[in-house]
Amino acid sequence: MTLTITPSGQACGAEVRGVDLSQPLSAQQVSAIREAWLQHLVLAFPEQQLSDDDLERFTLYFGPFGDDPFIAPVPGREHIIAVQRRADETTSIFAEQWHTDWSFQAQPPQGTCLYGITIPPEGGDTLFANQVSALAQMPAAMRAKLADKQAVHSAVLGYSPDGVFGEQDRDSGRSMDIRPSAEAAETHLHPLIRTHPETGQRAIYGTIGYIIGLDGVEGDEEMALLTELHDWQTREQFQYRHRWQPGTLLMWDNRSVLHRATGGYEGHDRLLHRTTIGAA
Ligand code: SIN
Repeated sequence: MTLTITPSGQACGAEVRGVDLSQPLSAQQVSAIREAWLQHLVLAFPEQQLSDDDLERFTLYFGPFGDDPFIAPVPGREHIIAVQRRADETTSIFAEQWHTDWSFQAQPPQGTCLYGITIPPEGGDTLFANQVSALAQMPAAMRAKLADKQAVHSAVLGYSPDGVFGEQDRDSGRSMDIRPSAEAAETHLHPLIRTHPETGQRAIYGTIGYIIGLDGVEGDEEMALLTELHDWQTREQFQYRHRWQPGTLLMWDNRSVLHRATGGYEGHDRLLHRTTIGAA
């Protein structure tokens, strides 16, 4: 059966039908999915019935597993984490700030796969922002200020003992098994504007949060530039809103999009299993 790919009509994203991901894929199917992924940046595969084995097998068609720090894997698996929230949980929403996954690593992951298991009847959408378009449409004056900057990436604000998921979160009743560490204070530099290794397209990489500074820029100017950039790169015109259904597998290209979780499902459980596609 051939793949049917339907663009979302938004700034990125497409739905893919005509493939059963619970079965091994042919080289031709993998290559067609990869091509669609590079073109649409976010792919949604609805109505899949996937085990954790299936999720892992699918992930490995696109690269090695990435390294997922600070979050314990689900029991019995090394490479799957649970993104979850119980109906009665009052903790902050995990991953609610715009980010690209694990950009603070020396070799950040290419992509992420997220499979919806328990999906609330309302809320809990995932938002994406197309960073190829955000760069292409960036005003020349802003681009001139940012063009050759190196960004300082770190997990310190989230996962250090003093971070959002650190000591202060310990007794919050969070169902996700987050493990803060002093290692979160490590930093790595990545160019703010990067060339995609497969498509050759230029895109903005990362945003304030995991980006904690700009190399060689100090004080007020640094925060002003990062805030100006954040406000631009997350504008609605660059966004795709993914509305979940149980059984949908989503894969996105961390090199080309930002994403963030949303709330609005208080009183309902939400559970998704996540893998990362490591650097090639
Ligand atoms: C994530 O950033 O992986 C979580 C996204 C979501 O929960 O919608």
